[in-house]
Amino acid sequence: MNSKIVAGEFDLLVLAGDGIGPKVTDAAVRVLYTVAEKAGLAIRIERDVAGGACYEAHGCFLRDQTLERARQADAILFGAEGGPKWDALDLPGGPTDKSGLSRLRKELDLFANVRPVRGWPMLAERTPFRPEVIAGADLVVLRELTAGIYFGEPRGIIDDPSGLRAIDTQSYTASEIDRSARAAFEIARRRRGHVTSVDKANVMESGVLWRRRVSAIAAAEYPDFSLEHRYADACLYELMRAPSRFDVILADNLFGDLISDCAASISGSLGLLPSASFGPADTAGRRPALYEPVHGSAPDIAGGGTANPIAAILSVAMMLGESFRRPDLSKTVENAVSAVLAQGVLTPDLGGSATTADVTEAILSELASSSGGGRPVVEQTALLSWLYEDLPPMVGGP
Ligand code: NAD
Ligand code: IPM
Ligand code: MN
Repeated sequence: MNSKIVAGEFDLLVLAGDGIGPKVTDAAVRVLYTVAEKAGLAIRIERDVAGGACYEAHGCFLRDQTLERARQADAILFGAEGGPKWDALDLPGGPTDKSGLSRLRKELDLFANVRPVRGWPMLAERTPFRPEVIAGADLVVLRELTAGIYFGEPRGIIDDPSGLRAIDTQSYTASEIDRSARAAFEIARRRRGHVTSVDKANVMESGVLWRRRVSAIAAAEYPDFSLEHRYADACLYELMRAPSRFDVILADNLFGDLISDCAASISGSLGLLPSASFGPADTAGRRPALYEPVHGSAPDIAGGGTANPIAAILSVAMMLGESFRRPDLSKTVENAVSAVLAQGVLTPDLGGSATTADVTEAILSELASSSGGGRPVVEQTALLSWLYEDLPPMVGGP
């Protein structure tokens, strides 16, 4: 893979999924093509089905052959999966049988899910917050993605003497916690050096181990970083009161899921939040990487042509920076998005009346007029730069 990176040739697997997934991934792929063409990057795109679309065609949510393609790809772009029709099915098996996305995450060991969140100055009035509350908000949620209550055993609904009983298991090994903690500190290294670790150590054994291991990793490997522990409930309270206090939030699978959707309100819409998920690097330094919006298939608006494509487009920006090692192109896309938001070309989730196509065209036209390296449109802290190993710390850092 490294040699391919040098050659500027990449294999991308696109799994558009369900609901608004196909529309927002189409928009993101157009942006990717435009930027890649200008920069002379050769990106081979393969498409396949996943989620409900796959279930309709093949009777499962992700095919083995798709998983194999995903293993070979340099990057995966995922749209969204699910919808009332499939969510309501009573199917046998575990989470990897019931969700294509869960299978991909688990099988590729995509444990480090990175979800950047920021307050956009030009959208401040469109959020539920006073502008001064979200001013300067710029944080990253590092969500553990392959363990915890999503995958713990035993699980299921059983009939025991007391009647029906539903069981989920929250389970974390020390090494699962350790690698997530390291990922969070490595991100913090390129940012402001501050990690807030989230748990419920007051009521959960997994929280006790989580807190103990994060403290141990910090003391042994990141002694100069600032680490605070917060109970999940109080963390969310603080996040809504003073989001700019946070730098990197380290959370388990479930808390990270909740925190990131909640934090989207700081940006103004769930339709703005991108994400990247990484597995462990192999001996050649190759990391499996999946990029996807934080949002779901939005069945309530699917088919209306008004889904916000920006979360998917910013996911492609993350891909350009991390998997394709072109932080300059990542920044170019981010600047184009910023410019379009500043122009007020907004979908209904942000209070506007623009369509998915309007926003996409506006971003493409910004890209057409921008120089290859991108031009700063608004003064802003970088959203994505912490992903690169070679970049210096963003704002001082430890
Ligand atoms: P959702 O994220 O799909 O939608 C929540 C709300 O946000 C809805 O009101 C929706 O209209 C809005 N929204 C989300 N993305 C938007 C966008 N790009 N533009 C404008 N508005 C947007 O969450 P949900 O409604 O709880 O779940 C719907 C389905 O999606 C379920 O089947 C769920 O399991 C699935 N889901 C999938 C993923 C994923 O594939 N990564 C993530 C979350 C939910
Ligand atoms: C997410 C989604 C998923 C999750 C669902 C669709 C399994 O909400 O990616 O945030 O809960 O992880
Ligand atoms: Mn979620």
